[in-house]
Amino acid sequence: MYTFFVNGNRIETVTNKKLLPFLREDLGLKGTKDGCSEGTCGTCTVIIDGKATKSCLTPLSSLEGKSIITIEGLSEREQAVYSYCFAEAGAVQCGFCTPGMIMSAKALLDVNAFPTRFDVKKAIRGNICRCTGYVKIEDAILMAADFFRSNHDIPDIQRDGRLSQRFQRVDAFEKVVGKGLYVDDVVIEGMIFAKALRSAYPRALVNTINITKALEHPDVVKILLANDVPQNKIGHLVNDWDVLISAGSTTRYIGDALALVASTKQESLEEILNLIEVDYTVLEPITTTKQALAEGAAKIHSNGNILTVEKLLRGDAKSAIANSPHVVTKKYSTPFTEHAFMETECAIALPEGDGGLLVYTASQSVYDEQREIARMLRLPKDKIHCQSKLVGGGFGGKEDMSVQHHAALMAWHTQRPVKVRLSRQESINIHPKRHAMEMEFTTACDEKGYLTGMQAVLIADTGAYASLGGPVFQRACTHAAGPYNYQNVEIIGKAVYTNNVPGGAFRGFGVTQSCFAMENNLNLLAEKVGISPWDIRYLNAIRPGQILPNGQIADPNTALDKCLLGVKSAFEINGRTGIACAFKNSGFGVGVPDTGRCTLSIEDGIVHIRTSAACVGQGLATVATQIVCETVNIDPRKIVCEPADTKRTPDAGTSTASRQTVITGEAIRRVALQLKHALDNSESLSTLEGCEFYDEFTAITDPMGSTKPNPKSHIAYSYSAQVVELDEQGKVTKVTAAVDVGTVVNPTALEGQVEGGVVMGLGYALTEDYSIEGGYPQAKFATLGLFRATEAPTIETIMVKNEEIAPEAYGAKGIGELSTIATAPAVQNAYHRYDNIFRTRLPLEKTAYKK
Ligand code: FES
Ligand code: FES
Repeated sequence: MYTFFVNGNRIETVTNKKLLPFLREDLGLKGTKDGCSEGTCGTCTVIIDGKATKSCLTPLSSLEGKSIITIEGLSEREQAVYSYCFAEAGAVQCGFCTPGMIMSAKALLDVNAFPTRFDVKKAIRGNICRCTGYVKIEDAILMAADFFRSNHDIPDIQRDGRLSQRFQRVDAFEKVVGKGLYVDDVVIEGMIFAKALRSAYPRALVNTINITKALEHPDVVKILLANDVPQNKIGHLVNDWDVLISAGSTTRYIGDALALVASTKQESLEEILNLIEVDYTVLEPITTTKQALAEGAAKIHSNGNILTVEKLLRGDAKSAIANSPHVVTKKYSTPFTEHAFMETECAIALPEGDGGLLVYTASQSVYDEQREIARMLRLPKDKIHCQSKLVGGGFGGKEDMSVQHHAALMAWHTQRPVKVRLSRQESINIHPKRHAMEMEFTTACDEKGYLTGMQAVLIADTGAYASLGGPVFQRACTHAAGPYNYQNVEIIGKAVYTNNVPGGAFRGFGVTQSCFAMENNLNLLAEKVGISPWDIRYLNAIRPGQILPNGQIADPNTALDKCLLGVKSAFEINGRTGIACAFKNSGFGVGVPDTGRCTLSIEDGIVHIRTSAACVGQGLATVATQIVCETVNIDPRKIVCEPADTKRTPDAGTSTASRQTVITGEAIRRVALQLKHALDNSESLSTLEGCEFYDEFTAITDPMGSTKPNPKSHIAYSYSAQVVELDEQGKVTKVTAAVDVGTVVNPTALEGQVEGGVVMGLGYALTEDYSIEGGYPQAKFATLGLFRATEAPTIETIMVKNEEIAPEAYGAKGIGELSTIATAPAVQNAYHRYDNIFRTRLPLEKTAYKK
């Protein structure tokens, strides 16, 4: 018997398990989150006898007589202070790290009323946040210290919620106090648990799968094999991904699922999986694009090993380069990268209605899930009801099916509620990553430094399945020439299947890779011309009315030159700085149907914003609320933004391509105008009780290969210039990021996106690596190289825009991806200027971060 106290309550138990599952499963205290179960992330932090402690590592047997405080144990005053300070500072995004952060903060502030920023950084060093870049979390904790110290009252701030205000996030409170529900927090009576058996080899012929012994396990409910799946091939864009690999087929990577096991107990799933006997004929895996493209290479898919070929030609690059006085040719290499969102993939499916299913999910689009699950089960789409819970980060990594289809398949077979949740290691091994790319770029300019032409060859390792590899690779190519004013480009590339983990969407969507190559070449050209890296960018920066290398005429709102002016003094401060520019499209573009939709309904005197646009941490609900407030002039406390739900919210497409603020934002503006007109003709909101308004917006763009002289490839582009400064020891001490995102919806949220994106970009540049050997990922969560608070530098965000703004969504443009793209080349430029070594591989070697 172990006796201890949780939030002041005496607990007696005879079981000896870890404290985290005891809190969550036995006591139902779901505010403490499980981001890894392996002591790395800090989402499980609680306070034990005054000390911040990771509950996932703490056995109950070590707690005799001790006192534990969880997020639910905060006093009312503490709840109010932390909620206010975290919301006001903008310290909450996806919120999955937030309760753990607050427990670490409380452990500090309980003993130190006057902490310095460094004290705060040290206190939260064990807590990883993948969204915020830590700056605003530190600000929030310092603000909370002041509130406790000075006993400030919580201000009753009345903001009207209109655009460009530092309006508090609408979902901050529930996330701070741990009351917001993520899928793993949902409890359903009679729920069972499912898990897939994964391939032991990246490439092997599966001869037989024998489940006889596994079926004898007392906890087993059901075991499903490929022939239990009505339609076994699914996929986000290409239906090439097996729900379960059948006997007689060949595996494509170690994440392939062979069997799906359901158990009455989560704890016995592994035991049951170990009883399944698989007979393989092991085959040599194809682990490089070179092997995959070799004559006679085994085919990973029936149509071969090439997912897509891109060829972008404009002007005459060859002659332009041949006739230029300055030419640079370099090869670059970038690795696979792991998203490392704090919440691992989790879904719950249960029977609903007449032969249908309800699926609780945490993804980037409930309608994509509905489509793929309906296809798999050969059911009409309206039989699959998908509802989003809070999403603990996505960054592109939650676009593909990972657990949703397996939960639905098992629920459909058993007619019981089923949860499937990936462990941290499964998440690392299975979901698609940022593509590894090999690139050769040739760039040329004239005597003064004006760009004349470029040629590029890009080869992407797209791994085992298509995922979003096609459009990701296309964006890598369409943005490869950079945001500059010249016309002779020849870009050729291939995305190639291998037996590695699939490559898919990741913040930056391919542009992160090609920007690294282009921007580095630009610095070498500047050297040849004898001008500075800033000068060559300012000379060539695309300006309104000029023509981008893809032929599109730059909109009047284009403000890259202003971004450069914004960071000029930061660049010129000393010789240890580096600079890079980036641009990123908002919306799918290139002629792909791109529609945002929104319904506003008046229910119980409240305006309900109903759109399926997923909030994956970026704050879509807050953006939507502010656009309604801007249009209707209504008290934001009279507005709620509903979670995405295929039965309640119209299809607004996926939260990808930095599209929701522009595309769904414009749909929201339009429907809000309808509400405004209705309100203009009525006495009050209550007279509109029960009314519904609906509108949508479709962005029209020209397809790839358009014969128009100046095709409109994308409805909007955002621009950025970043400067990275190193200290004398070669550590990044400051990043200055100027961004042109048009109208700023919310400056605090925008800074949060920039800070989070920059820190993610610093990790990409300096520390993060997802190495794969022989088709086997080597990465562990603790060794991914994610930045911690103590490593995060000062980050300054400068917002610029032109007078003339875009007509859509009050002139707002996307920021989500833009903020990450320029960081890695700016870091390389800083190191090159610091030690004169020109590095061409990421993560950069021989730095203060990596040997
Ligand atoms: S869940 Fe305990 S450190 Fe990650
Ligand atoms: S807000 Fe910290 S991980 Fe998302």
